[in-house]
Amino acid sequence: MINENPFSLNYTPDHFCDREKELNQLQTNFFNGLNTVIHSPRRLGKSAVIKHLFHQLENERLVETIYVDLYASQNMQDLIQMLAEIVLKKFHQKNFIAGLQQILKGLSPTVSFDRNGTPSFILQINAQQYQTSLEQIFGYLEQQNKKVLVAFDEFQEVATYPDKAEAILRTHIQNLSNVKFIFSGSLGAKRPFYQGAEVIVLDKIDREVYKQFIITTFENQKKSITPEAADYLLDFSDVYTYYTQLICNQCFSQKDKLLTVDMAQQIAANYLESRKFDYENIINLMTENQRKLTIALAKEGAVLKPNAMEFLSKHKLSGASSVNQALKVLLEKQIFFQSTEGIKVYDVFFRRYLEQYF
Ligand SMILES: Nc1ncnc2c1ncn2[C@@H]1O[C@H](COP(=O)(O)OP(=O)(O)OP(=O)(O)O)[C@@H](O)[C@H]1O
Ligand SMILES: [Mg+2]
Repeated sequence: MINENPFSLNYTPDHFCDREKELNQLQTNFFNGLNTVIHSPRRLGKSAVIKHLFHQLENERLVETIYVDLYASQNMQDLIQMLAEIVLKKFHQKNFIAGLQQILKGLSPTVSFDRNGTPSFILQINAQQYQTSLEQIFGYLEQQNKKVLVAFDEFQEVATYPDKAEAILRTHIQNLSNVKFIFSGSLGAKRPFYQGAEVIVLDKIDREVYKQFIITTFENQKKSITPEAADYLLDFSDVYTYYTQLICNQCFSQKDKLLTVDMAQQIAANYLESRKFDYENIINLMTENQRKLTIALAKEGAVLKPNAMEFLSKHKLSGASSVNQALKVLLEKQIFFQSTEGIKVYDVFFRRYLEQYF
């Protein structure tokens, strides 16, 4: 029998680590009638924590949950189409057409059926109709017997829409009492849109909690990992959720029953080796200045003042203004990000690669 790898890179309710505090906060906000903004650097676990909250709420059957991933959306019409699809799927699985007529009254969506007879629709609306359609969809949710919690994930996309999307949404959202929201993404929480919402900044999972989770997860699958090996993996991944899950996934998938620190080191080294080609590609696309700065930052881990004399001379960088220029580009390209500890190379494994190979 093939053992399922519990360190999945997709959300699985059975192998979810901690986030008790955030789950509590999200739930409390919702039951107190507050909207929540949740933001963090990429890949720390925003989407997973929302999915876990929704899993718990759905189990209790007290709340209707609606999860909308706006990643691929480009304008208000996309948002409305996505939202309407999910609402229909949830409340009108069996009577799609009737549901469509009810939820998008007067907006003439085009309906089509695939080979299996599964219906879908395309909505083509203009800016004037945004208001009506949102009013209808939210109005529909407002009338539900149960309270409704809508999560807009990747909400930073809305700020890039050509329409005055935030303003439009804001007026609708303010007037709802049965429907509350979670806005999640890589958000600048200072935007006026979020005034009045509670803000959660998602941080790393507590190291000791994560360590125990790793050990227990191995044990639950009749394998084991030494505490030293777990510590090594957490160091290697900088306790950054996505990278921790990924390296644990690799370690779990090897055949031996016991994972020692030597084996963990070997697996981590092999992993970096396997990514060498991608990493070299990133480096080759950089200018000389960018490359030197990236390597310097990788070696330091985190740097609070990358244009300070001390850092520049230690790494033989060419001067504050060209460093500032490189910094700007690499922050924009998300090669770097600004963390509470200072500026860091975003991809933890790319950082490890640079540390080791340069
Ligand atoms: N608490 C957790 N326990 C176990 N795995 C988790 C946990 N949180 C996140 N993960 C896993 O870590 C990875 C990153 O999480 P997720 O996609 O939720 O991050 P995110 O903050 O939404 O990222 P992005 O900013 O790219 O949308 C995923 O593979 C997810 O399954
Ligand atoms: Mg996400």
